[in-house]
Amino acid sequence: MPIYNLGSINADHFYRVPHLPRPGETLAATSLLRGLGGKGTNMSVAAARAAAQVLHIGAVGRDGGWARDRLLEYGVDTRHVVTLDATPTGHAVIQVDDHGENAILLFPGANHAISEAAIGTALAEASPGDTLLMQNETNNQLFAARTARSLDLTVAYAAAPFEITALHGLLPLVDILFLNAVEAGQFEQATGQSPAGLPGKRVIVTRGSQGSTLFDNITGETRHFPALPVTPVDTTGAGDTFTGYALAALDRGLPMPQAIALATRAAALMVTRHGTADVIPDLKEVQEARF
Ligand code: RIB
Repeated sequence: MPIYNLGSINADHFYRVPHLPRPGETLAATSLLRGLGGKGTNMSVAAARAAAQVLHIGAVGRDGGWARDRLLEYGVDTRHVVTLDATPTGHAVIQVDDHGENAILLFPGANHAISEAAIGTALAEASPGDTLLMQNETNNQLFAARTARSLDLTVAYAAAPFEITALHGLLPLVDILFLNAVEAGQFEQATGQSPAGLPGKRVIVTRGSQGSTLFDNITGETRHFPALPVTPVDTTGAGDTFTGYALAALDRGLPMPQAIALATRAAALMVTRHGTADVIPDLKEVQEARF
C-alpha cells in the first residue's frame, strides 16, 4: 500500500572537518561533497529502496529540478513535488567530524511553502490503510495529519528536528512515533512524561550504537534491539534510513520486530557510507550485508 511522505527536499553540502567548530572558531574543511538530502527525501528514498511504493509530497524552487529528477531516478513518485517560483530549494550545511558525528544548519526554503491545496490533492488519491509519513522539516504537518486521519490512513511521524510545539499538536493524530535518544530526552523534559508510555501508540526510540527500543503501547510489548557492529564514518541520514526501511517493511506486512531488525541492518550499512539520499543501500545490499 502506498506511503505518502510529506517531506523536505534539500541540497546537502557536506564539509569534512577535524572537529565540529566551537563558537567563534574559524575552521578549514578538508573536503566538500554535494548531494541530495533532507530528512523527508532520505526517508522516501529509503522506503523506495526497501521496495515500498512511495509518493513524495513536497516542494522545490526553480533551482531544484535536479533534486526532483534524482528522487524519481531513485524510485520515488514525484507527481506531488511542486516547483515554486518565489522560493529557492532548501539546503543543508553539514559538518562531519573524524568520528562520523555531525552538526547541521538548515535553510528550509521551499520546504516551508507547501500549500494545503498541494497536500490535499496528493492525499485525495490515498485509500484507507495507506500511510502518511512526516518529519519536522516542512510546514502544514497538522493539516496533513488531520486530512490523513479523516481518510483512515496510518500516521507515522519522525519528530526531527525536535520541536515540542510541532509535536504537541500532532501527537493525538500519530500512530507510530520515531524518536532518537536526544529527542526522547527533549520530549520528557518538555512534558514531564516518558514517550515510552504514550497510550495507543507505537514508539520507537533509536540510540545509535546502543540499538533501539520498541514501546508498543497497543500490545504492551517493550523490546530492545541491539545495534550491529560497524565502524561509522558518517552518521548523517542513518536515522532517516531506519525510519524509511521500518515503514516499508511494515507496509509489506512484516511484524514490527522484523521491520525494526531490517531497519537496523539498513542503518548499520548507511553509517559506513559518506552522504545521504544518494548512498542509501537497497534491499538486496541490506539483506546480503555481513556484520
Ligand atoms: O537527517 C539528515 C538530513 O538532515 C540531511 O539530509 C539534511 O538535509 C537535513 O535535513
